[in-house]
Amino acid sequence: MRIVMIGSGYVGLVSGACLSEFGHHVTCVDTDKAKIEGLINGVIPIYEPGLDEVVAANVKAGRLSFTTDLASAMPSADAVFIAVGTPSRRGDGHADLSYVYAAAEEIAKYLDRYMVVVTKSTVPVGTNSKVAEIIRRVRPDADFDVASNPEFLREGSAIEDFRRPDRVVVGCTSEKARGVMREVYRPLYLNETPIVFTSLESAEIIKYAANAFLAAKITFINEMANLCEVVGANVQDVARGMGLDGRIGGKFLHAGPGFGGSCFPKDTLALLKTTQEFGVTTKIIEAVVEVNDARKVQMGEKIEKAFGGVAGKTIAVLGLTFKPNTDDMRDAPSLVIVPYLKNKGAKIKAFDPEGMKEAKKHFDVEFCSETYETLKDADGVVILTEWNEFRALDLAHVKELLKKPLMVDLRNIYKADLMENAGFSYVSVGRPP
Ligand code: UGA
Repeated sequence: MRIVMIGSGYVGLVSGACLSEFGHHVTCVDTDKAKIEGLINGVIPIYEPGLDEVVAANVKAGRLSFTTDLASAMPSADAVFIAVGTPSRRGDGHADLSYVYAAAEEIAKYLDRYMVVVTKSTVPVGTNSKVAEIIRRVRPDADFDVASNPEFLREGSAIEDFRRPDRVVVGCTSEKARGVMREVYRPLYLNETPIVFTSLESAEIIKYAANAFLAAKITFINEMANLCEVVGANVQDVARGMGLDGRIGGKFLHAGPGFGGSCFPKDTLALLKTTQEFGVTTKIIEAVVEVNDARKVQMGEKIEKAFGGVAGKTIAVLGLTFKPNTDDMRDAPSLVIVPYLKNKGAKIKAFDPEGMKEAKKHFDVEFCSETYETLKDADGVVILTEWNEFRALDLAHVKELLKKPLMVDLRNIYKADLMENAGFSYVSVGRPP
């Protein structure tokens, strides 16, 4: 099949590269000239493990190419994907759909054969119908169907997620479009990955409902962690005991500093806006948004308490990105916690394995080039992101470098007894000291 992917951001680039790996001919289109020139020269604009290899192999095989010129890419396409950003609109938290609608207008100009216009971007219910409307208005003669095909990739494991998804969701309105989408995902179909065909509206809601549900799961366990701390229970044991119930499942029950990233905060807020717009009350989502926002500040307070006040103290912060294996800082807990500590008079030394470039845009702190340099002469260390390299620190060396052996581990990557034996005061999330 010939596929055009509009938008070479995170979702577009990963999906485009992986679809070319499935054997399709994919052209990734973006209006950002520098990005496209970079991609043509093998420069991957984001950090995502394994993406560079998939891109290189498929460019070499002649199945994957990049251009800024949609007109040249469209004529032979069977399906055109819209994978542009849908950020939170400033001011009201609604998803900003201007890029999606602009893409629909552009696509319409080149619809000279039957094509399926597939939305991969995360879009509120009703958007795909609007996309169809726009195309019909621009080109009343066009022969096309729209399909909603939301993406469930996680940053840091996006390639694996694309190759082996739990399911593929496709909302569409005609058998012809279903046939095209079956062909697009044929390799997965052969692997017996469930392909869930639904209406456009149901597919749109599935994406938001899935993200909101996962965000609720995290928020729930974070609140249980608060209770565990007060009564001396261990939230990891609680999560395990709950999660082994097949109806609950053990995933997304890691207590921590609150969820961040480019999706959960934006999508929970957008879903809330959608429900309000349609006059439906969703108190759970409202609470998830509120509790998670508050949590990041509470983590600042937790650190302050552990340090016995932070004014005039030097704090080593390990990890700044919203999770490991990404350079993404969007809505990272560090964006709230670091300024909180600074405002309280702390001096911050910080290090992140991949996020330093992004972090420098947000913070004015002392950035260090590696872990142990960060720890030197600090009054204690705070772990904000569970990068692998922070999981196996040389604790004796850490103790030598720090002025005081204090660790606040907001990701629960160490065991309390191990830390105690190593002579640390150790504070974690939802576990007895
Ligand atoms: C999330 C979803 O997991 C993907 O399925 C979805 O496709 C994606 O959003 C999207 O909508 O594009 P992602 O944002 O990459 O993926 O990251 P997650 O691994 O889901 O983590 C999100 C946040 O939740 C992180 O801040 C993480 O630290 C936090 N988290 C996750 C917890 O605090 N506890 C957990 O148990 C799991």
